[in-house]
Amino acid sequence: MSKVIVVTSGKGGVGKTTTTAALGAALAQTGQMVAVVDFDVGLRNLDLILGAERRVVYDLINVVQGVAKLPQALIRDKRIDTLSLLPASQTRDKDALTDEGVGRVINELRERFDWVICDSPAGIERGATLAMRHADEAVIVANPEVSSVRDSDRIIGLLDSKTVMAEAGKHMPKHLLVSRFDAARAGRGEMLSIEDILEILSIPLLGIVPESEEVLRASNLGTPVTLANPATAPARAYFDAARRLNGETVPMVVPSEKKSLLDKIFGRRAA
Ligand SMILES: Nc1ncnc2c1ncn2[C@@H]1O[C@H](COP(=O)(O)OP(=O)(O)OP(=O)(O)O)[C@@H](O)[C@H]1O
Ligand SMILES: [Mg+2]
Repeated sequence: MSKVIVVTSGKGGVGKTTTTAALGAALAQTGQMVAVVDFDVGLRNLDLILGAERRVVYDLINVVQGVAKLPQALIRDKRIDTLSLLPASQTRDKDALTDEGVGRVINELRERFDWVICDSPAGIERGATLAMRHADEAVIVANPEVSSVRDSDRIIGLLDSKTVMAEAGKHMPKHLLVSRFDAARAGRGEMLSIEDILEILSIPLLGIVPESEEVLRASNLGTPVTLANPATAPARAYFDAARRLNGETVPMVVPSEKKSLLDKIFGRRAA
């Protein structure tokens, strides 16, 4: 049975698109059929991170409006053939997406893929609510800082009120992914600790992704970090998170200062 996941946050720039690409790739690397869908109309970031920007012909809006059929718009990854991208449009017309049209496309994706992972735009406006509307589960990405955690709380409120599941009186499972975690700064009290975040949001933890220059390096290569450098700490964190999404029990590793130093050394060697 296929699962539709929304990757959301409220606050911008916390790592949603990075997470969509890395989790999507990690799940696809296990042989499951995965589609990642870019809802960030006007910005189009997911195609860049997946190195597919020159292959975009049709996009989500074209499919919603019936200008193109779904298979015409889907871009199959050249490295992982179980991973496909449905890109966003570069148009500024965010109203081109209708609730009914998005629902139809998501249903068609459900028939073809095991996982449909929707990359939400920042904010709590229409784009974000459309991205979450038809989801079965949510991955909430938060950075260890007060503004990000506060926005995550607002997003949880929307997930529990504005989605098809909420309207049907069902509870949507939610997973917290703490991203850009800096062990040294958390140790000095400059960032919220994992315990603080869990206490405020009280949703189960899917993973902790450390702050790492490997993420930027991978995105500059147009490659998800799980594919660019699977041995690095952020890649391992995403592989573990993907296994947890899959229902496996995997021990949680809280990044430590020592580990990030080792990771730097190994990251350099492997690069
Ligand atoms: N673990 C990490 N370590 C270091 N940098 C990271 C990490 N995760 C994401 N970044 C960087 O943070 C920036 C924002 O990431 P990303 O685009 O994934 O966020 P986003 O939530 O999708 O942003 P937006 O709200 O604008 O869509 C990017 O430059 C990305 O490379
Ligand atoms: Mg993004």
